[in-house]
This record gives sequence, C-alpha cells and structure tokens, in this order.
Amino acid sequence: MLAPMEGVTDNAFRTLCYRNGADLTFTEMARVDNLSRLKRGELEKITITNKTPTQIQIAGAKISEYEKFLRGFKAVEGFMGFNLNLGCPSPAYIRQGLGAAMIKRVSRVNDIVRLINRSGFECSVKLRLGLNGYEKGKGIYLNLIEGVDASFFVVHARTAKQTGRDPADFSVYAKCVDTGKRIVANGDVKTKKQAEELEGIGLYGAMIGRAAIDNPGIFNELRVRDCS
Ligand SMILES: Cc1cc2nc3c(=O)[nH]c(=O)nc-3n(C[C@H](O)[C@H](O)[C@H](O)COP(=O)(O)O)c2cc1C
Repeated sequence: MLAPMEGVTDNAFRTLCYRNGADLTFTEMARVDNLSRLKRGELEKITITNKTPTQIQIAGAKISEYEKFLRGFKAVEGFMGFNLNLGCPSPAYIRQGLGAAMIKRVSRVNDIVRLINRSGFECSVKLRLGLNGYEKGKGIYLNLIEGVDASFFVVHARTAKQTGRDPADFSVYAKCVDTGKRIVANGDVKTKKQAEELEGIGLYGAMIGRAAIDNPGIFNELRVRDCS
C-alpha cells in the first residue's frame, strides 16, 4: 500500500504507484470538521479523479461532524472506504484530542468506525504506538486494535514523540498480529528482505511512504503476494 503523505499523494502520484504495484493508495489527511463545513481546500484533498483504488484519510473526534459530512458524501469509482488518522504527531492536533491523541479513545474510535460502516463504507485505521514511550509500554495500541472493529489496522511503528529519523520498531508487529486482526506494517519498509520477514510474521500487508517518493516502482519490487 502507498502511505498517505500530505503534499505528495495526489491523484497523479497515487496512480503512478498503483500502476507500479501498490494494491491500495490513500489521500493525504483531511479534517472532518472542515469537510463537514464544505471547505474547498479540504474537499480538494479527498477528490478522486480516476479509478485508482483509494481510501480517503480523515481525522476528527466529533461524531456530529462525521454525521454531517457523511450525509453529503458521494462515493465515486476508485473510492475504497475511509481511513481514520490516529497517528498525526502535530502538537496542535494532539492538544485538540486529534491524531495520535485518539489512540486511547477506544470507544469513540469504535463509534466512528461503526457510523462509517452504517453509512455503507469500509473503514480502516492508521495508528502510531502511542504519544510517547510510556503509552507504548502500556500497550495502548494493542487495546485500540483489540477494541475496534476496523477492516484493517496500519501500525506505524513509532510513537508520536519520535521523528522519521528514529528507527521503526518492527518488534511490535507480532503482538499486533496475535490480536487476530488484519495488520499492515508501516515505517522504514524498503527492502524485499523486510517484506519477506513481515510476511513471515503474518502481516496482512505493508505500507510504504518515503521510499516510494524515491522509487515509485518499489511496490512491484517488494511484492511478496497480493494484498487481498
Ligand atoms: C511528507 C509526508 C507527509 C505525510 N502526511 C501524512 C498524512 O497526511 N497522513 C498520515 O497518516 N501520515 C502521513 N505521513 C506519514 C506516512 O504516512 C508514514 O506513516 C511515514 O512516513 C512512515 O512510513 P515510511 O517510513 O515508509 O515513510 C506523512 C509522511 C511524510 C514523509
């Protein structure tokens, strides 16, 4: 899968990666409060202009905003469901209880996923391991995975405190897979050897971000099997 990346994963880049073997792609994150108010810039982020399989990534905590947005939402060809962002590390988002601050809010996240499902759409979740090492140690990411009925969980194996230069912690994936849910690995995936290692752990798939900017052909190069 191609990772959601602000300013990068527009329709053209998503299609380039799809043609090079990405099974599924994601829009950059859009805020549900802005979408529910029909803000043009936000609506542009989630516009799908071709048939490339795409999940729309959204962030928000208020049920009423999701209800309002979903009432006016029309699915187009290529749309494959929504992905909830529980990973954004921006302090401004975290102060508002959004992004990685949502990992602890299991029952709210489940309510959002159910609402999206009731509206007729699939919903996956992308999360980090917690806000910091303490939350990671407490296993809050496992509570979330166990407590939420999403179609799959993309686990970006870093905490919100860590930067992209800190190595992703591949050791967490086995515990995630043990929950019995579909788990997609994310963070520093760039070699075939890693892809095979992840396949051996029983992951549902892998998501690639920065390595795809350098080489959009990476999806076919790392393919171990179809993500279906
Ligand atoms: C430029 C850039 C923009 C990003 N924007 C988003 C985003 O909108 N939503 C999101 O969930 N993650 C976003 N991320 C995080 C990536 O989706 C991914 O989790 C992260 O880069 C780790 O994967 P990688 O090591 O394969 O790049 C962004 C990352 C980068 C580098």
